[in-house]
Amino acid sequence: MEMQYFSLQLCLLSSIFFLLGCCSLFANTTDIVRFDENYEITWGSDHVLSLNQGSEIQLSMDISSGAGFGSKLSYVSGFFHLRIKLPNKDSAGVVTAFYLTSKGKRHDELDFEFLGNREGKPISLQTNVFADGVGNREQRFLLWFDPTADFHDYQILWNQHQIVFYVDDIPIRVFKNNDDIGVGYPSQPMKIEVSLWDGDSWATDGGRTKTNWSMAPFKAHFQGFDISGCPIIQNSSNIQQCYSPNYWWNSEKYWKLDSKQQGELQNVRKEYMNYDYCSDRPRYPVPPPECLHQ
Ligand SMILES: *[C@@H]1O[C@H](CO)[C@@H](O)[C@H](O)[C@H]1NC(C)=O
Ligand SMILES: *[C@@H]1O[C@H](CO)[C@@H](O)[C@H](O)[C@H]1NC(C)=O
Ligand SMILES: *[C@@H]1O[C@H](CO)[C@@H](O)[C@H](O)[C@H]1NC(C)=O
Repeated sequence: MEMQYFSLQLCLLSSIFFLLGCCSLFANTTDIVRFDENYEITWGSDHVLSLNQGSEIQLSMDISSGAGFGSKLSYVSGFFHLRIKLPNKDSAGVVTAFYLTSKGKRHDELDFEFLGNREGKPISLQTNVFADGVGNREQRFLLWFDPTADFHDYQILWNQHQIVFYVDDIPIRVFKNNDDIGVGYPSQPMKIEVSLWDGDSWATDGGRTKTNWSMAPFKAHFQGFDISGCPIIQNSSNIQQCYSPNYWWNSEKYWKLDSKQQGELQNVRKEYMNYDYCSDRPRYPVPPPECLHQ
């Protein structure tokens, strides 16, 4: 009797799991956005490989070339993301970049740059924010996982109130809109750009550790080509409309971090941040104004 009851329970449980598994699988197969729906190759096309019906892209770099791709459209607000798996083994000198950028001299830019390293040494994730052509706002982090072992989600929220960099939904950096105290804030239409390139003049140990070309080709993998952003179709006429709260990333919930996220951010800064321009006194004897208004 007991046994029967037990197996009935098991049966019920497994049906529930089956149903859940079945439905979420179904939802996700319809969710997958192919690379060429939103993106195009920008350089090094012979070093780009499309995998799994365009749901994954591999960029490779050898001594002849790296490669890159970018979004077809420019955006003025959004919650941007890519799932990235970095080149493994010895990747010293190799830079994998995922960023938003506008065109022109006084450009805006939001950067994730992964700085490769010798095998066994940690890869740094450098972030930067440019507004009106002014950058020099580097913050660097170590990661709490091996970014070469698997895909992880790297995300950038951009609305009128704040820019937030996240790793797997955990905020690692906030850049608030401090326009009212004269700090530039990115507001120009930006494209998403991705590249794999040789940065051994600066990327690893300040350029002292060089790319080991006998380890080439270096390969980075990308997934997640859906874009949640407000595109500028032609002229700048619809910029204001891109700040509408009808876009979820503009709603009040995303104007500042909640207390849980604030705690996560503080923890990442304490445990994983290894460089912050705000506390680099030799470089900035007086901290830039945004550093005092975070
Ligand atoms: C599957 O899709 C759902 C709904 O869009 C999403 O919440 C979930 O994260 C997805 N799961 C995976 C493994 O991609
Ligand atoms: C470069 O890689 C080769 C092949 O693995 C290895 O023999 C050599 O020691 C490496 N060079 C450096 C500077 O690490
Ligand atoms: C873009 O704006 C300019 C000047 O405002 C206008 O002359 C031009 O026709 C517009 N182009 C399109 C494609 O809307």
